[in-house]
Amino acid sequence: MTITTPLNSMVNHIGQLALQDTLNPSAQTHFELLRMIDQLRLAVETPTETVLRLIYQPPQNAALKTAVDLGIFHIISREEYKDMGVSAAKLAECTFADQELIIRLMRVMTSLGLCATPAPALYRANEKTIAMTQPIGRDGVRCIYDLTVPTLSQLPEYLRVHGYTNPEDYEKSPMQWTVGHSQFEWLARNREQQALFNSYMASRRQGKARWFDMYPVERLLGPAVPCDDSVFLVDVGGNHGHDLNQFRQTHSHIPGRMILQDLPAVVKNASNLESRIEVMPYSFLDPQPVKGARVYYFRSIFHDWSDKICHQILKNTVSAMAPDYSRILIVDFVLSDTDAPLMQASLDIQMMSIGAGIERSEGQWRDLLHNAGLKIEGIWSQSPGMESVIEAVPI
Ligand SMILES: C[S@@+](CC[C@H](N)C(=O)[O-])C[C@H]1O[C@@H](n2cnc3c(N)ncnc32)[C@H](O)[C@@H]1O
Repeated sequence: MTITTPLNSMVNHIGQLALQDTLNPSAQTHFELLRMIDQLRLAVETPTETVLRLIYQPPQNAALKTAVDLGIFHIISREEYKDMGVSAAKLAECTFADQELIIRLMRVMTSLGLCATPAPALYRANEKTIAMTQPIGRDGVRCIYDLTVPTLSQLPEYLRVHGYTNPEDYEKSPMQWTVGHSQFEWLARNREQQALFNSYMASRRQGKARWFDMYPVERLLGPAVPCDDSVFLVDVGGNHGHDLNQFRQTHSHIPGRMILQDLPAVVKNASNLESRIEVMPYSFLDPQPVKGARVYYFRSIFHDWSDKICHQILKNTVSAMAPDYSRILIVDFVLSDTDAPLMQASLDIQMMSIGAGIERSEGQWRDLLHNAGLKIEGIWSQSPGMESVIEAVPI
């Protein structure tokens, strides 16, 4: 078969991007390479193949969750199986699962590329297997599955019953309707899930640029350098302080206090924090008690909430800001108006489901911030596939 001209030029373009991704890597090139590979696949697939691929995604997630629950990736990754691999019989013996079940689950895992299969019913670890043993895979798969799948399975019915109105009320979110609680109440009632969630939060940006790699931190130093007892940065909803720790380690010379805020049940378990990081239980639905900080930092916070609640959080923050000095830094996705990356578009549906949240476009961010008396000073990002840093100040 000869490759048609458009396919041929796509393949050439992918070849060039792949070379660039190896020789001169950047987040932008990497994003573009993956985007082109997706487009190539779509161009090659027949419409029937595309439909079938989409229809059969749910069983893949269920099989993956089961493999993680059984600890299969940990076993495959053991040093003793590094060269020769491990058999389905051995996996069955170690997990107390039926060998036939293991073989059926592992067909999906190998097809997904999550390990190699050098011979029938034999499995050998690759770098994706290792990722599945680390917090991002091990805890992320378990937590996100249990948090989202029951509600996502009911989302079409929820939307039908609610006349296809856009979910905007946290108290009446699809998750509330399906399981009786929205995300943060559900997590608070499930200690094991909360621990998995916290672990996933700390690990999910592994290998990616940190906010201060994208944002020029010198903008915060300027003429108004804080003294040691003034507050430099408040990480609002900072979970266990993973971001603040990284910032403190990288910018240890910056004077001023750094404060980690989150719900009481969350911050009470924050540990291994750098010195000079203070912990403060606080709900951002209440007025901000720390006045006049240089930065109020919110990462992956606003996408959890509808505009109404975001407005409340922003107003609670603006009331604490010192004029001409304090600023808000928001790290979240800024969706492109066209061709939004699939991961962000999917996350938007997830946020809608578990708490009537939303991933926003630049226009939506501008409106949200403007309505709370703020204006955007700049938006920094390394690629359309990554979160952006938005700096906002009072109008
Ligand atoms: C998606 S996580 C983001 C965590 C962290 N900023 C990050 O980017 O990894 C949202 C965080 O908001 C916190 N949160 C939820 N409701 C809150 C509230 N009312 N006040 C303060 N924090 C809250 C959660 O406990 C959680 O740590």
